[in-house]
Parts: sequence; structure tokens; C-alpha cells
Amino acid sequence: MRLGIPCQPPDRSLAAATPQTVERLIRLGYDVVVQRGAGAPAHFPDTAYEEAGAQLADRAEVWACNIVVTAYAPDDAELDLMHPGATLIGRLDPARHPDFVQKLQDHSLTALAIDTVPRISRAQSMDVLSSQANLAGYRAVIEAAGHFGRLLNGQVTAAGKFPPASVYVIGAGVAGLAAIGTAYSLGAVVRGTDVRPEVADQVKSVGAEFVPVPTAQEVSADGYAKEMSTDQAALANALYAEQAAAADIVVTTANIPGRRAPLLLDRAAVEAMRPGSVIVDMAAANGGNTELTVPGEVVTTPGGVTIVGYTDLAERLPAQASQLYGRNILNLLTLLTPGKDGELALDLEDQVVRAITVCQAGELLWPPPPVSVSAAPKAPTAAAPPQSASDAAADAEAEAAAQARSRRRKTIGIALAATAAAALVLVTPAAATSHYIVLALAIILGFHVISNVTPALHTPLMSVTNAISGIILLGAISQVGNANPAISGVAFIAIMLASINVFGGFAVTHRMLAMFRKE
Ligand code: NAI
Repeated sequence: MRLGIPCQPPDRSLAAATPQTVERLIRLGYDVVVQRGAGAPAHFPDTAYEEAGAQLADRAEVWACNIVVTAYAPDDAELDLMHPGATLIGRLDPARHPDFVQKLQDHSLTALAIDTVPRISRAQSMDVLSSQANLAGYRAVIEAAGHFGRLLNGQVTAAGKFPPASVYVIGAGVAGLAAIGTAYSLGAVVRGTDVRPEVADQVKSVGAEFVPVPTAQEVSADGYAKEMSTDQAALANALYAEQAAAADIVVTTANIPGRRAPLLLDRAAVEAMRPGSVIVDMAAANGGNTELTVPGEVVTTPGGVTIVGYTDLAERLPAQASQLYGRNILNLLTLLTPGKDGELALDLEDQVVRAITVCQAGELLWPPPPVSVSAAPKAPTAAAPPQSASDAAADAEAEAAAQARSRRRKTIGIALAATAAAALVLVTPAAATSHYIVLALAIILGFHVISNVTPALHTPLMSVTNAISGIILLGAISQVGNANPAISGVAFIAIMLASINVFGGFAVTHRMLAMFRKE
């Protein structure tokens, strides 16, 4: 199939593919057609795409491809250039743009909105919202620092001293955590708030103090916050106003997917901030988290508070934003091209594919069924309905019988294990029986050590302990030349298995360490 990469709108800079991803798309079997100049705003010249194996073409040819991959929703003229039955992949934001969804149907297109990938572990590598929000959070602090016009870190010099700037971040999702980490690394004192109390540890781990919202907030099954009631919002907004008044820089990132962004700071709250303070409203494109935000612009209030409403923060780092976006697209196309034969296969049974399919050959499939994600906290178990006395007695009897059965099974199991162990000791030569004591001690010690290590550290622990298989390796090497073919055979198998453990252990450890290594 021919896969087209068109140019972005004139004032935008995100490219839907980089020369590296083009090379990989070609390996998936696609004929990649790149519009001349598509990579220029992100500093990827046409020649680089050509060298990667793409064909350069004009606008009409690119939009006429079987699959068109964009970074932005196309306009009417571009949709008209697409063939019925063709596939459009891009950031289509269908929840907020029902009119656009209707146009996709009218053109009989198959449309895949990569910005609706569910937040499940398997789909992380395709999650464009997260990859862009991460860059945008960083850039928000850089913009804030530029407009703040003062140091972010505290300094003590011979000529005087300055305290560190105080930064307050509202909303600790992907963008908020990136903003907190950046502000902290620049030396600011950072506070962070979110309506989801479970993110407190994440906020602390990137260097901020967590300021809890004085109202419990529900989380929907998709892992995002739900909209607050008016009373809850009023309570929370009072806290935000108080914290903002004490801050030099406020970064607002509160977002409810598919809805207008919640209003966090009203006019009075902004006016109560100190002159020279800066707000970066990352939700500007979705209506804004402050009452005075102007999307796409920087405004300064009469009281001297600057509000940055840029809606293209990630694109202000165009090369890296395009690299991440291109990677997300490549990962999605890898999922959609199982045969690596350049043929798109839409498996609507796959919950990731289903979640992003807006329409298929003009047939509306939006909205998709909800996806439950691991990020969502578990709902409290509902209280059991009251029971009658006879039901309760029957339940207690059944419970006691089940316990007795389980005790019997356990006793029989222990007796069998003890008999097998005794038989093994009897047939083992006397000189070797002491090894059983070592084995038993090793099992007991191993059980206690491993069960006391936090589950998050099990992978590094196992990778290191695998390397301990070197001891088995030495023992097996010493026995492999034994005259008894059974012993030498077992030793050979032990060498093979222990080698996998040793080399695998080192390889995994090496990969994990590489994640923490700076280039
Ligand atoms: P996210 O959904 O991961 O995080 C949003 C956070 O806001 C969640 O943790 C949620 O619990 C919290 N939240 C919701 N309502 C709240 C409230 N009333 N008070 C406090 N916290 C609340 O979203 P992500 O990916 O971090 O993006 C954040 C915002 O940044 C979105 O509006 C997104 O559209 C925007 N964005 C803006 C860019 C720009 O260039 N301006 C670029 C990328 C993202």
C-alpha cells in the first residue's frame, strides 16, 4: 500500500514521520510517499527522506495514497483529495469535533485517531498525548522562566542573595509531572496539586511537595479524573487561588478528556498574584484553566501577571516532538501490519485498535466501548446485602467444611512430600546427604529474602541473582567429563541452563542500567 506523509499547516511544525521512521515503515512493506517540505519545519530535509527510501511527491499525490498519516486533522480541501475507502491516521480529536467525524463518514474514509489510544501498558508506545505532553511540560517551564525574567534557583553572592523561585503546578498528569521535574531541576521550590490523591508519591518523586485538594475526587475507568461537582470545584479553586498568590510561576495542566478544561483560576485569583508572576496555561487549547487565558497568545494583566496561552508547546521543540510522534505512528503501524507486507489489517477485537477507530469505510464506530485501565484505582468492594439467620448458618457450615477439606489436602501434601524427601535421603550416598541441609537452608533464606524485596525491584533482583548461576556453571563444568554418562548428561544440561541465566542476567541488568545512563 502507498502511505502518504503530507505537509503540516503553514504555522505548525510537527512532522508525522522522520527519515528514521520512514526507513522502518518501508521495512513494514509500505511504499512511503513524502510531500516535499513535510519535514522542513522540524529540520528534516527532503534529501534525508529520499535517502531513507521515500518517494517525494506533491500535495495531491500524497493525499491520494491508500493511507495518509498526518499530525493534524486535515481541512476540507485535503479531505476532498482522499479516495473513498482510504485510511486517515492522525490526531483527530473526535470527541470534541463531531462535525469533523461527520465529514470523515461523508468521504467514506477509515479514520484512526491516534490521540484516543487508551492508557494501558500495551499501548504506551503509541500514546501521542503522553509523548507530546511530556515535552510540553518541559517547554512550559522554559517559557515561564523566559517571561519571569528572574533566576529560578536561589543564589548567595558577595553582592546579595536571592531566594529560589516558587513554582506551583496544578494537575500532575504527564505534562504536570514533566513541568515539576523541570522546575525542580532548575532549582525552584516546587509544589504540585492534583485531584487524584494517588499521584502524591509521583509528585514527590520528581521533586515537589504535594498539596492535596480538600475534596476526594473520583477517577473514571479510563484512568482520567472525572469532572468535579460545583461544590467540589469551589473548594479546590479556593486552594489553587491561595497557592497561586504565594507562587512566582503557576503551570496549569488540568484536563478532563473530551471536555472543556476545568476553570481553576478566576479573574480575582489571577489579580491576587504578585506583579511579575507568570502563569503558563497548558489547557489553553481546550478552553483554558484560567479565566484570562487567550489561546495561542501571551497576555499581561494590568496587575502585571503574564499568562502564556501557547497551544503548541511541544512543537516548540519540533525535531524531538516529530521524533516521538513518528515513533508513536510507527509503533501503531507495526501493530496494524502483522504480516509486514504493507497491508493494513484492522482487528477490531483488539481493544487498542477498537479504541482508535472512528469510522471504517464511512461506517461510524465512534465512540468505542470504554476501556478499563490499570492506572485507575480499584473501586471499593460493595457491601454485601444483609443475610437471613438460616442463610448465615448455611454459609458458616459450608465455610467450615471448605476449611476442613483444605486442611486435609494440606496434611496429605505434607505427608507425601516428607515421604518423597525421606526416600531421596535413603537412596542418596551418605557422603552427599549434607547437601540437603544446604538446599533446605537456601530455600528458606531465598524465600525470606525475595518476599521482603518490594515487587518493583524483583526484576533487578532476579537479573543479579541469575548471574549467581555461575556457581552452578562451575559445578557442572567440573562434572561434565564424568565417566558416568547420566552424570555427564545432567551436567551438560545444567551448563546450558545456567549459561542462559548468567548471560541473560547480565544482559537484562545492562539494559536496565542503560535506561538511567545519560547520553
Ligand atoms: P493528563 O490527563 O495526563 O493530566 C491532567 C491532570 O489534571 C490529571 O492528573 C487530572 O487528575 C488533573 N486534573 C483534572 N481536573 C483537575 C482539577 N480540577 N484540579 C486539579 N487537577 C485536575 O493530561 P496531560 O497529558 O498531562 O495534559 C495536560 C494538559 O496539557 C491537557 O489539557 C493537554 O491538552 C495540554 N497540553 C497542552 C500542550 C500545549 O502545547 N499547550 C501540549 C500537550 C498537552
